[in-house]
Amino acid sequence: MTTAERSLTSVGEDDAAGQKLFEELIAADSRIEPTDWMPAAYRKTLVRQVSQHAHSEIIGMQPEANWITRAPSLKRKSILMAKVQDEAGHGLYLYSAAETLGTSRDEMVQQLLDGTAKYSSIFNYPARTWADIGAIGWLVDGAAIVNQVPLCRASYAPYGRAMVRICKEESFHQRQGWEILYELAHGTEAQKQMAQEAINRFYGPALQMFGPPDTDSPNSQQSMEWNIKRFSNDDLRQRFVDMIVPQAEALGLHFEDPDLKWNEERGHYDFGELDWDEFKQVIKGEGPCSVQRMQRRRQAHEDGAWVREAAAEFAKKYHGAESALSA
Ligand SMILES: [Fe+2]
Ligand SMILES: [Fe+2]
Repeated sequence: MTTAERSLTSVGEDDAAGQKLFEELIAADSRIEPTDWMPAAYRKTLVRQVSQHAHSEIIGMQPEANWITRAPSLKRKSILMAKVQDEAGHGLYLYSAAETLGTSRDEMVQQLLDGTAKYSSIFNYPARTWADIGAIGWLVDGAAIVNQVPLCRASYAPYGRAMVRICKEESFHQRQGWEILYELAHGTEAQKQMAQEAINRFYGPALQMFGPPDTDSPNSQQSMEWNIKRFSNDDLRQRFVDMIVPQAEALGLHFEDPDLKWNEERGHYDFGELDWDEFKQVIKGEGPCSVQRMQRRRQAHEDGAWVREAAAEFAKKYHGAESALSA
């Protein structure tokens, strides 16, 4: 069906026709555009998912930004600054994608500040050493890639399109993290130990980034039926473990998980049970840095008030001048 035919079908039709077209598009693994009819629950799920994703990008800047002044060389500083700026960009693409669903960015930001919207639990952990910056890049951005590559095919088109660019940048982030760890793992004994301790800290929380086990993830099934999600949490987690074990070997490091071993029969690595009580606690806002992250975000929002006011004034004047010209 061409775009023109679609808009003819969408415009002026009742919900039943919209629902039918929506179902046809999903069944054909095609994409839903902002102007298409969509079920209220689909819209709501997407606003929640995309805005949470945007909030995670923005909050995720904090543990790394804290290390910019302490990065060990000018080269490392510039790489880290570029990465942190990329994350800000990801937040902006995603807020824009979510806005096409009819919720304003102001509203979404307010939900974050009020604590009614969530962000990824991983960003409530501190970055204690320089090696943690390596572990974040390799494991946290690495987990983000495994999670997000399938989202490039998400049925909601603006989300999928935003993810394409984000994934390209995440690959660079993962690579820079791996390289930091590689250098440390091949440095002095103390540096190698620092790298090992960093991955010990981030292994469990990074695996939890895929969300709760499938048996405890009630919304996943619907998201998969809508082609938002393509693989279950546990499938993605397994894919990630299979990817990072050989990478850790290449680094000369290991994961301190006694249950982590190759399972010939399954053709995958087995791994130990994760601490889901801790996960739930962190999600509830009781993570080691939860309070600090939100304080910082509120402060940054207040500090930026003059920029928003100036931008709004400028927009008013600019558009005023434009309409005077066209009159
Ligand atoms: Fe990102
Ligand atoms: Fe990233």
